[in-house]
Amino acid sequence: MANQELLREISFLARRKFVVISHRQPFSHVRRTVRGESAPQVRVEKPASGLTLALEPILQAAHGTWIAAASGNADADFVDAKGVVAPTREIHYRLRRLFLPPRLREEFYTGFSNSSLWPLCHIAYHQPRFEDRWWKAYQAVNRLFCDAVADELRGEPAVLFIQDFHLALLPQMARERIPQALIAQFWHIPWPNPEVFRICPWRRELLAGLLGNDLLGFHLAYHRANFLETLDREMAVQINRESNWVISEGHRTAVAAFPISVDTSRIRHHAATTGRRDAEALRNRYGRGRRLALSVERMDYSKGIIERLEAIQRLFLRHPELRGQVSFVQISTPSRTDVRAYRDYADRVDAIVREINHAWGVWGWTPMTALHTYVEPERVWSWYFASDLLIVSSLHDGMNLVAKEFAAAAREDAVLLLSQFTGAARELREAVLFNPYATDAFAEAIAGALALPEAERRERMRRLRWRVSHYDITDWAGDILRSMRQHEFDAQHTLLMEPRRQAAARLEPEAAARPPRARRQRL
Ligand code: G6P
Repeated sequence: MANQELLREISFLARRKFVVISHRQPFSHVRRTVRGESAPQVRVEKPASGLTLALEPILQAAHGTWIAAASGNADADFVDAKGVVAPTREIHYRLRRLFLPPRLREEFYTGFSNSSLWPLCHIAYHQPRFEDRWWKAYQAVNRLFCDAVADELRGEPAVLFIQDFHLALLPQMARERIPQALIAQFWHIPWPNPEVFRICPWRRELLAGLLGNDLLGFHLAYHRANFLETLDREMAVQINRESNWVISEGHRTAVAAFPISVDTSRIRHHAATTGRRDAEALRNRYGRGRRLALSVERMDYSKGIIERLEAIQRLFLRHPELRGQVSFVQISTPSRTDVRAYRDYADRVDAIVREINHAWGVWGWTPMTALHTYVEPERVWSWYFASDLLIVSSLHDGMNLVAKEFAAAAREDAVLLLSQFTGAARELREAVLFNPYATDAFAEAIAGALALPEAERRERMRRLRWRVSHYDITDWAGDILRSMRQHEFDAQHTLLMEPRRQAAARLEPEAAARPPRARRQRL
């Protein structure tokens, strides 16, 4: 979608406040001493997630407010009494920071968000844990976010756009406190099937929280179907499967699929200019005269990093001729290091990388370079341009924007090797798809990708590039805004003119006539 069209969608926000709410802030102020400097300096750092890159341009265009939890050690120095960072020449929106008490943050973030909900929704064979105190903290933090939103709006008409699994209770809380707001949420991670979700002791509270939304978005129709199926099993609600509406206590929530994408033209432009220049130096340093195989991710077990390292070991066993021919580089940004499972995982990754280099390295060739550090997004785009192959090995991923960024930035003769368990695999069909759990097949997929004839590589990459140009981040944003507008129109012009029960009956006559399944089960 052209930016012009997006701006037209944004005009629907003109007479109201647009507020984005997420746990992770779009940028933080971090004070640290960099090598070569005598005193610590404060820098603005952007997180490793694609979410920020996706939302910032929209918020800037709408001159909105972003509410998020503080995370940088110098964040407090850059806010006013309300926690607001004023817009600057580069950043044309307000950021309101919530300073969560450390213990509360620990139980909310390390606990319920990342030790309960994250493993619950990513079926990566990592057992979720549920603790009462984490749940209480999750409720309390969602309430604090609601207080901040209410204070920000002070009765003004507003559109709230809530992000992700950290804030599942906020929509219902906001609906009660701020009835004038139109509320949408995007769930950036997978939604599991009902069998998996039912182990969560507070599943009904989470579902009720999400039904406070007017619009709830997932990446894939598959996740939407899982969500509706979960509701059908757990809640006394009416579901219209034709239109994907849910009616709960007289309120209607539209549930839709919007596959998130990337800022294709910006990434492409960078790759073709700065990236092209940087790439030569990167290749000289890491892969001179050899094929360069890259991976980029947060250090997270759901990304299948250990599975990939095992496949690389298997590759050198099965294909000794590839020794010295290919250099692997992995950029794995440290993530959630307060969570024990993440620390243990990072230690194992380090150990296997050492093993690989010890077992297979020869003078003048290091098979595996592990950059376990934060790398600026623009620098990552240069890495894409330098690489012959990108390997995305996620065991389960809502979308995976790294794959889409690579399709935007890579050279035309480069190859994308993509786990079949990413949302992106449903769209990027010209990638070489593989199962990261099957070590031998994974190793053969790498060998096969390295052996693809140039003409085929170019054809595949051309098609991949077309796909990410055809539907980019502005299309995603435009679709969500358009759906909100439509939802509002429908609510004002149809449902509200009818009594609740009649409206429900009109949507799904049969369902309205019989008690919903959950209620039947309880009878
Ligand atoms: C995923 C989630 C985001 C999250 C990001 C980084 O992409 O969907 O909500 O912000 O990971 O994780 P972190 O825990 O560092 O915020």
